[in-house]
Amino acid sequence: GKNLSGRSFLKLLDFEPQDVRYLLDLSKDFKRLKRAGTPHRYLEGKNIVLLFEKTSTRTRCSFEVAGRDLGMGVTYLDPGSSQMGKKESIADTAGVLGRMYDGIEYRGYSQELVEELAKYAKVPVWNGLTDEFHPTQMIADLLTMEEHFGYLKGLNFVFMGDARNNVANSLMVACAMAGVNFTACAPQELFPKADLVAQARAIAERQGSTVTLESDVKKATAGAHVLYTDIWVSMGEPDEIWASRIKLLQPYQVNRSVMENADKQAIFMHCLPSFHDRKTLIGEQIYEKFGLAEMEVTDEVFQSDRSVVFEEAENRMHTIKAIMYATLK
Ligand code: CP
Ligand code: NVA
Repeated sequence: GKNLSGRSFLKLLDFEPQDVRYLLDLSKDFKRLKRAGTPHRYLEGKNIVLLFEKTSTRTRCSFEVAGRDLGMGVTYLDPGSSQMGKKESIADTAGVLGRMYDGIEYRGYSQELVEELAKYAKVPVWNGLTDEFHPTQMIADLLTMEEHFGYLKGLNFVFMGDARNNVANSLMVACAMAGVNFTACAPQELFPKADLVAQARAIAERQGSTVTLESDVKKATAGAHVLYTDIWVSMGEPDEIWASRIKLLQPYQVNRSVMENADKQAIFMHCLPSFHDRKTLIGEQIYEKFGLAEMEVTDEVFQSDRSVVFEEAENRMHTIKAIMYATLK
């Protein structure tokens, strides 16, 4: 169904492939309006609040700009500056915010928390990333792929790296819904969990696509149209995990030889932020500690003309606008 009004956006598994299709089309409309400079204050008078228990650049800015473009008032609460979770339960926080705001964005740790927030808020809640899923990122990623290739069904998509993190989990479901062939290219220890794989496979089957787990890089990336990776250690994971992740994931770096093994037209994608160069505080620390030249993607691939990462980042804003409009209108 296309009527998403009043719904929360917590994980893709709550939706149908035609809902995703609708959000992609709506995103294209909003992107056109923005590019043309045409005002679209369709939600004038509404207010939203953005709750972040982890840091963010893209997601926060996308919600802020999209909210203002739609005519809404926007409140941002950073990690640590509200009572939530410390002096006040999630249920009480939700009960209060739901009376003041028309919609709530939440980025935090467990998926259960965002589900609980939605249960008590009685207004739409949008999941801006949990340990398990990152659903708003998915609409942007599918849009970026469709804009680039002109179609989605039948594309070969390969995720390399920590294939059981939030982004990989969500990509597996998103690709299945869009009829894109999904391969998790990772060591066995970091394959996505079996129950989620089974759910994604059931969806993919109906869309005529496949879900594959493959540890052999050559096999996994042959004929790939999209090479996607993410940071090797996610927010909320302990720093001590870097050593073992580096050991496990070094063979799964996206580099020149991976790109050469893929389809000639293959693109590189990354949700960002990325450690493709060391000019960050944490990047520098990791490089120094482990003596690594490069991590999940080489700077060469990141900067190449196959890389669509900044278009992908821009698309976060257009697609978050579509998600808010569809659920608040
Ligand atoms: N891709 C993404 O969600 O980035 P931020 O952590 O900057 O929001
Ligand atoms: N997997 C990453 C994604 C950041 C957008 C993390 O959770 O830190």
